[in-house]
Amino acid sequence: MFDLIVIGAGPGGYVAAIRAAQLGLKVACVEGRGSLGGTCLNVGCIPSKALLKSSGKYAEIKKLSDHGISVGDAEVDVSAMMARKDKIVDDLTKGIGFLFKKNNVELIEGWATIPEAGKVSVDGNIHETKNILIATGSEPVSLPGIEIDEQDVLSSTGALALSEVPEHLVVIGAGVIGLELGQVWARLGAKVTVVEYLDRVLPGIDGEIAKLSQRALSKRGLKFQLGRALKTITKTESGLELTLDRVGKDKVETLSADKVLVAVGRRPVTTGLGLEALGVAANARGFIEVDGAFQTSVPGIYAIGDCVPGPMLAHKAEEDGVACVETLAGEHGHVDYGTVPGVVYTDPEVASVGQTEEALKEAGVDYTVGKFSFMANSRARASGETDGAVKVLADPNGKVLGAHICGACAGDLIAELTLAMTKGATVEEVARTCHAHPALAEAVKEACLDALGRAIHA
Ligand code: NAI
Repeated sequence: MFDLIVIGAGPGGYVAAIRAAQLGLKVACVEGRGSLGGTCLNVGCIPSKALLKSSGKYAEIKKLSDHGISVGDAEVDVSAMMARKDKIVDDLTKGIGFLFKKNNVELIEGWATIPEAGKVSVDGNIHETKNILIATGSEPVSLPGIEIDEQDVLSSTGALALSEVPEHLVVIGAGVIGLELGQVWARLGAKVTVVEYLDRVLPGIDGEIAKLSQRALSKRGLKFQLGRALKTITKTESGLELTLDRVGKDKVETLSADKVLVAVGRRPVTTGLGLEALGVAANARGFIEVDGAFQTSVPGIYAIGDCVPGPMLAHKAEEDGVACVETLAGEHGHVDYGTVPGVVYTDPEVASVGQTEEALKEAGVDYTVGKFSFMANSRARASGETDGAVKVLADPNGKVLGAHICGACAGDLIAELTLAMTKGATVEEVARTCHAHPALAEAVKEACLDALGRAIHA
């Protein structure tokens, strides 16, 4: 009899299993993919970051003349780039197997179903357990009538494994996946057109910062067609023919492409577990409903990560998992969903935490804004990475309500403002913290000073 069986070995599930074992619970983790780490390690965060790094190095070579360095023509070997990515994924997924052994987490390989609370079935074998944690993650969605074949019409999985650079890649959706993978292939030489339903990129990100991102990505070669919805994709002799509806206008346009990446969101993976028969409640969009302790509507069955409501982010799933099992073990697990940072790993990066200016306006909250452009930051000037800005939103007492950054290393810079938010620090306190010079982080300090009306270098 196990204390806990975790279903799914993604960042939510495997971290929860290890933490539960550390707390003295007898734990098993079930995984059917044949490799640990879930979407994040196998077909998400890690392979995309590997390709972003490789393609970024290639793009950098072309800009070396700005630094007075000339090199010969650089060439891309896509298969070697993919092999490097695959090796990173392989090493990391194997590393989780090692961590399981080290922490006495039993790995059960196969696809799980839950015949009843307290029982998990894998390949016909029933395993008894006091608690079950569902950490089954999410999968890409498509659009009505659009079939993803991973050859010509791709999800993120196919776009991470192309064997050559397409001539024209059309990306549907200017969200996180569309921009990250669009930039990978644009840097490697593809013409990339991003088609987006809304009249802006990166929905959910502060509008002003999203605009800076779009401008910077356009400068780096991405083409944007906003206010357009994909309707059909037809295979022709020469490639793919797309029809796009102009949103709000009675107009249809066509676009041809070699490959299409459909990046219009993800949905929770909850089918095949037997949840309906058990009476596990889900909301209208299929996410499993849980209480503050991550318990579903069925006692003894818990759920975390992408398959429950909230941002679909690996680090949020990890936090969920740790809080859930700490509570199960009698401790006080807690996640502050108001301070979960999000990062888009494009060049320049986009990072955000807390409320956007649009959300504050809509809620009628009183706030002040502080902004600082990287153009005025000496380290950014020295590096030639001057695109973007830091934007901080504070309440009338100076407490940070939200922070949004577009620029080099934004994903690292956001950590300071995330800590400020979690500790209830004010913009004054951040600004009075000594920041090294010259550093990109000085832009964070200056944005906080700007919120107080006294930026030095603006
Ligand atoms: P998303 O929700 O970020 O963006 C989807 C976009 O597609 C939206 O802008 C939407 O307006 C647009 N769209 C929807 N229907 C359309 C249509 N018919 N025609 C044109 N555009 C249309 O979804 P995405 O990029 O697929 O990412 C899925 C999830 O994965 C997100 O929750 C994201 O947070 C997560 N993720 C996070 C990463 C990170 O943290 N760096 C990296 C990759 C994914």
